[in-house]
Amino acid sequence: MYVEVEGLSFAYTREEPVLKDVSFSMEKGEVLAVLGPSGSGKSTLLRLLSGLDMPNEGTIKVNGAVFASKNRYVPAEKRKIGMVFQDYALFPHMDLQKNIAYGLKHLRKDEREDRVEEMLSLIDMENKKRSFLHELSGGQQQRAALARALAPNPKLMLLDEPFSNLDADLKGRIRDELRSIIKKTSMTSIVVTHDIDDACAIADRIVVMEEGRVSYKAPSCGK
Ligand SMILES: Nc1ncnc2c1ncn2[C@@H]1O[C@H](COP(=O)(O)OP(=O)(O)O)[C@@H](O)[C@H]1O
Ligand SMILES: [Mg+2]
Repeated sequence: MYVEVEGLSFAYTREEPVLKDVSFSMEKGEVLAVLGPSGSGKSTLLRLLSGLDMPNEGTIKVNGAVFASKNRYVPAEKRKIGMVFQDYALFPHMDLQKNIAYGLKHLRKDEREDRVEEMLSLIDMENKKRSFLHELSGGQQQRAALARALAPNPKLMLLDEPFSNLDADLKGRIRDELRSIIKKTSMTSIVVTHDIDDACAIADRIVVMEEGRVSYKAPSCGK
């Protein structure tokens, strides 16, 4: 398995843990939705996967590398994990091409420019490369944020409620666009959402999170 999460537990305080014995695994290239109500621990799970917090118990493995276990902890900057949040997180003082190039400082200038062009083409926004955040629509901002996160070719992509700031009429189209972009790159991705329609539209598979626990009795998505 490409992603293996086993027996993960985590508490912010001495109170009841927020994650309790969470286990799941993923194939390479799979898009998994984690569906659950507000407060069920979805964002906390992503914080542990990305390395922003350390689990109290359990192990996280990605592509054979142990990121977290009883005696090992790889910090966030060494994990090569891409993240997209609900509020897009593009830098407002940089144009689109600079935003995409941001995570590519390790590349030679010509390689970096090629990769930026490749990403612009992937999201079909070559004509927007000199645009700033405020000049882009909500859907364009969302695609741009995805392109920026994909550019360094992360091992795993995490998306936290990526649709929650979008108008209902836009949402359907953008969900489909995001899924097609992710699938084109075969990027192994976890999409967190509280919305069952979002989960059904974007994911290959859904796990349900309730009060810090994961259950595999996923909804049938009306099929
Ligand atoms: N920094 C924090 N300190 C203490 N408790 C927190 C913190 N962040 C989240 N929590 C608590 O952890 C639980 C899970 O939160 P979260 O992971 O944000 O859930 P979700 O993303 O599913 O809404 C909630 O009860 C929340 O209040
Ligand atoms: Mg959350």
